[in-house]
Amino acid sequence: AQFNQLAVAKGLTYFGTATENGELSDTQYTAILDNSTEFGQLTPANAQKWDSTEPSQGVFTFTKGDVVPARAKANGQLLRCHTLVWYSQLPSWVSAGTWTNATLTEVMKNHITKVMTQYKGQCYAWDVVNEAFNEDGTYRESIGPEYIPIAFQTASEVDPDAKLYYNDFNIESSGAKSTAALNVVKDLKAKSIRIDGVGMQAHFIVGSTPSLSAQTTNLDSFTAQGVEVAYTELDIRHSSVPASAAQLATQADDYANTVSACLAVTGCIGITIWDFTDKYSWVPSAFSGAGEALPYNEDFSKKPAYAAIVKVL
Ligand code: XIL
Repeated sequence: AQFNQLAVAKGLTYFGTATENGELSDTQYTAILDNSTEFGQLTPANAQKWDSTEPSQGVFTFTKGDVVPARAKANGQLLRCHTLVWYSQLPSWVSAGTWTNATLTEVMKNHITKVMTQYKGQCYAWDVVNEAFNEDGTYRESIGPEYIPIAFQTASEVDPDAKLYYNDFNIESSGAKSTAALNVVKDLKAKSIRIDGVGMQAHFIVGSTPSLSAQTTNLDSFTAQGVEVAYTELDIRHSSVPASAAQLATQADDYANTVSACLAVTGCIGITIWDFTDKYSWVPSAFSGAGEALPYNEDFSKKPAYAAIVKVL
């Protein structure tokens, strides 16, 4: 019984994981990663981001970015491509540059075009725009809200086969930020600009993960607008570690509810966990004191969450 095999049998397109170039020399790790019955899809966690692909203006380098796509291809796994436009992990020439809206828009369009061209035909989906909103639903960025339609319009012209996604966190249940993401979909549709999907990152916390009904209601609100949805970066962290047996049981329930929500909604097409073993989770470095967020422990033994996911799949 393995994740992708079960997920596909239930009608999902994939169950996948993020991974990172530096992890691929760990043979215990790759024995699991490369098994397409466990993971039918890979996402490069960092190597396709702006700082990695265009470190100096107009100088594109795909040496790092090509590694995970090649691995997915060799393994017969789908690829989610991540990400074209994001305020974080920008090279300093972008973040500290002096721009007008017009010059920054040109830089963005060129970046989208060059990077998507490199991966044309290889991506099941692209996260075109990542994390555009603050928690209250206001825009984070500096160009102005019109950068989103420009980004999607540009992307739609480069790769007709890649699904174009808006991707964000804390949009997995209703609220100001989820409404803002929904308004992106409505606005693009109203402008007849292609958007195919919305990614729910789903970086959750054990015990405060949205309920099954809160998640299905939210997913339904997106699919009602004519887009597909996916869980794109799922992990469920303990605020402090080591976790107790009771906390591991709650985590297992939280994973089960999230996977169940996707299964319950016809337009929810896939689930990606943000790496699969605590050995390589981003959580301890990003959230002080937190950890043990993934279904596999550091030593590759399986947590109760693993069994809980298999049970609902
Ligand atoms: C994270 C990576 O996992 C880390 O290795 C990196 O240091 C920071 O970025 N939302 C996203 C992902 O869309 O790209 C982020 O990935 C996690 C949060």
